[in-house]
Amino acid sequence: MRTLVIGTGGREHALAWALSRDPGVSEVHAAPGNPGIAEVATLHDVDPMDGAAVADLARELGIDLVVVGPEAPLVAGVADAVRAAGIACFGPTRQAAQLEGSKAFAKDVMQVAGVPTASARVCETAEEAAAALDDLGAPYVVKDDGLAAGKGVVVTEDRQAALDHAAACGRVVIEEYLDGPEVSLFALTDGRTVYPLQPAQDFKRIGDGDQGPNTGGMGAYTPLPWAPDDLVDDVLRTVLQPTVDEMTRRGTPFAGLLYAGLALTSRGVRVIEFNARFGDPETQPLMALLDSPLSPLLYAAATGTLAAVPPPAWKPGAAVAVVMASKGYPESSSSGDVIDGVESLAGRDDVHVLHAGTARDAGGHLVTAGGRVLAVTAVGADIADARAKAYHGIEAISFPGAQWRTDIANGR
Ligand code: AMP
Ligand code: GLY
Repeated sequence: MRTLVIGTGGREHALAWALSRDPGVSEVHAAPGNPGIAEVATLHDVDPMDGAAVADLARELGIDLVVVGPEAPLVAGVADAVRAAGIACFGPTRQAAQLEGSKAFAKDVMQVAGVPTASARVCETAEEAAAALDDLGAPYVVKDDGLAAGKGVVVTEDRQAALDHAAACGRVVIEEYLDGPEVSLFALTDGRTVYPLQPAQDFKRIGDGDQGPNTGGMGAYTPLPWAPDDLVDDVLRTVLQPTVDEMTRRGTPFAGLLYAGLALTSRGVRVIEFNARFGDPETQPLMALLDSPLSPLLYAAATGTLAAVPPPAWKPGAAVAVVMASKGYPESSSSGDVIDGVESLAGRDDVHVLHAGTARDAGGHLVTAGGRVLAVTAVGADIADARAKAYHGIEAISFPGAQWRTDIANGR
């Protein structure tokens, strides 16, 4: 099978890597990709937001399966354009991607489907926002209604800061604060059959001990030995299947990867958010532990035949990914800082450097080119082992202004 991965991030590197090791895959292409993806795929300089250009590229290359990684092209309808060209595409339609693209839409689907989530108000004016904050009480949770790459959410005890964020965003969702640990549970679905992946955990704040602003995610690990044994079954029954069924009932079936961001609260599991694509960086450790070939699962989800393929199987052990970010992240980012040491990890089976914001400068040196630069992803016998290997890898890599958390997968 010939495959084409759309995107430039660490998630796309992990997916392209898994496809490159899949015996059923003869070619892996990527657009636009990055220097790390170039090691496992042929890159094409095509705008990932341009559906017609992506469909043309797929046709020219004789692609059997396009995999759209990020949310922005999905919300822009790139998967629709590829399917309209008669090519199988993993990733939901523009309409179904509204589960991620609009928090208000997601809340409506959850309400109708009876999916447990934080109670919430959609607010368009300062008066509405103030009333909702006072009703729901502190800590305040204010979310930009649109796509914000994980950075549109403010959780604060400071009522003025909450009001300021609401004013800056315009239309916001203000919701009840959920306590308890967070879990990322992903599911492959073709709009009917739902196959959950192994649970993972992401570390969203920039600083150790979950301090500082939200980021796209600074590290992740899987599996979660502390999670209840029935968590996956419980979430499949109460969250994933009802959501998929409700989307199909509406005539906008969701096929692709449904990402449930969950809080395990004292009152049970609650959905924090849905995303319409694989999570980043959770995909990095998940792909490292996936034992099944990836292409049959993605192809079946894309073509309505998921029930005919066995559910995903997992290797024993654990995987941990630690993100290195550039100077200034998440408020800004730094480009052109020379990255040293990545080559020293080449050829390792248990430690992989998955690239996100990297580029080659005119001299061919690897340099930073974005906020989240790379994720060192390691596999081990258990979490402690995988974690030690990941941090060993981090120590081998350096660039000016590098930031990383030192507490990824370090207890809970
Ligand atoms: P979201 O973009 O909706 O995933 O929110 C980003 C992060 O903000 C989440 O991973 C949580 O850490 C935090 N957050 C979002 N909603 C809530 C909530 N209702 N209660 C507590 N924390 C939240
Ligand atoms: N890891 C968070 C996200 O992908 O949205």
